[in-house]
Amino acid sequence: MEWSQSAQMYERAKLSLPGGVSSGLRAAMRPHPLFFERGAGSRLWDVDGREYVDYVLGWGPLILGNSHPALVDAVTRQLAAGQSSGAGHSREFELAERVCAAIPGMDKVLWSNTGSEAAQIALRLVRAATGRVRFIKFHGHYHGWSDAMLLGYRPAADGSLDGLTSRGQHPRAPADAVMLPWNDLPAVAAALSGPDHDIAAIFTEPALCNSGVLPPAPGFLAGLRELCDAHGVVLVFDEVITGFRIAYGGGTERYGVSPDLAVLAKAIAGGLPLSAVAGRAAVMDLATQGVVHAGTYNGGPLALAAADATLTELARPGVYEAFEERAGQLTQGMRKALADHGVTGAVHHVGPVVQCTPGVPAGDSFATFMSADWDWYGALTVELLRRGIYVLPGGRWYLSTVHDEADVNRTVAAFGAAVAATVDTTGRPR
Ligand SMILES: Cc1ncc(COP(=O)(O)O)c(C=O)c1O
Repeated sequence: MEWSQSAQMYERAKLSLPGGVSSGLRAAMRPHPLFFERGAGSRLWDVDGREYVDYVLGWGPLILGNSHPALVDAVTRQLAAGQSSGAGHSREFELAERVCAAIPGMDKVLWSNTGSEAAQIALRLVRAATGRVRFIKFHGHYHGWSDAMLLGYRPAADGSLDGLTSRGQHPRAPADAVMLPWNDLPAVAAALSGPDHDIAAIFTEPALCNSGVLPPAPGFLAGLRELCDAHGVVLVFDEVITGFRIAYGGGTERYGVSPDLAVLAKAIAGGLPLSAVAGRAAVMDLATQGVVHAGTYNGGPLALAAADATLTELARPGVYEAFEERAGQLTQGMRKALADHGVTGAVHHVGPVVQCTPGVPAGDSFATFMSADWDWYGALTVELLRRGIYVLPGGRWYLSTVHDEADVNRTVAAFGAAVAATVDTTGRPR
């Protein structure tokens, strides 16, 4: 059996871990979640001894690839010097200074560990800042799994995007959110119209990476900024995927619009658990005025050592130009492979985040993303595994600083062969 060691481990894992995984989304991996022994650079090796070019990158954080020597060195040195004091150390403010220097308009930083936590403290800050409770959230955007934020991400069985996402979620959570289509400025303006609107904040991914890697429509983010200023609403960019990735200063730099708060995680620490809210002093200082922000591991030296190494590597000249070039090569190669086999599908990228949306001519909206042929894509990911390419479900491919031209050429060839293995001679899924 293929992946027999992984399959055995998966069966054993199911006995002690619900569903055999530590994050529910991982259960979507086809043919089943794999188990890995080690990673180095752009490569991963599974427990069956198979080697893969890694485009999962830990679901995004490994922007320097697997076990980058600079990151390993920084974390190892810190580990030998003490793993966590739960007290002040210089990296807390040094890294905060670097984040504020990187992202236009940011004055202060609160450290935490995961994106879900950081989104939660951002919500608490905006409610304290405005005295209002409700917030605008866009369809298809993901701001973590908390009761308050896990709304409007994927349609429920009845097609609705306005209800609960999880069993056990607080039943009144949807009442606190106004869920709107993204890139629809008139809808936002309407929600904020009238003197008595009760909206504290707008949360948005600056580019919708979670549902099709969609860039904002021209003027949309600037329009949100204007509406927030006009109506006393806090603008929050969830830069958990985009931060330090689609530009050093994230979506804020790339699209030239400054939010009041930016939520950061994933790439910032290259794979160690670190998240942050960065923001304007007037909102951030509420954390000294009754807004509770706590956490045993907040600002931990290991994660900040990793962030130090990661930001140093990302700040080197040419990194973001190389991301564009590499992502462009991969995008072109995948497009050509689809066309060569007569297969309908869209491929595009925002910075080093590439999106393949199967079965549709253009991956240009949440609606096209949802209507894509994900069954076929699931079969394709298995054929890619057979050819040494490890990708996420959902069509998103992450590139790191260490994916080189040879990796991309090998990947494009494998992609073509995998496509050929999954379609008939007319390009239809088998
Ligand atoms: C945009 C965005 N926000 C928040 C989160 C939640 O982050 P975490 O998984 O670290 O809790 C994610 C996770 O993928 C994300 O993509």
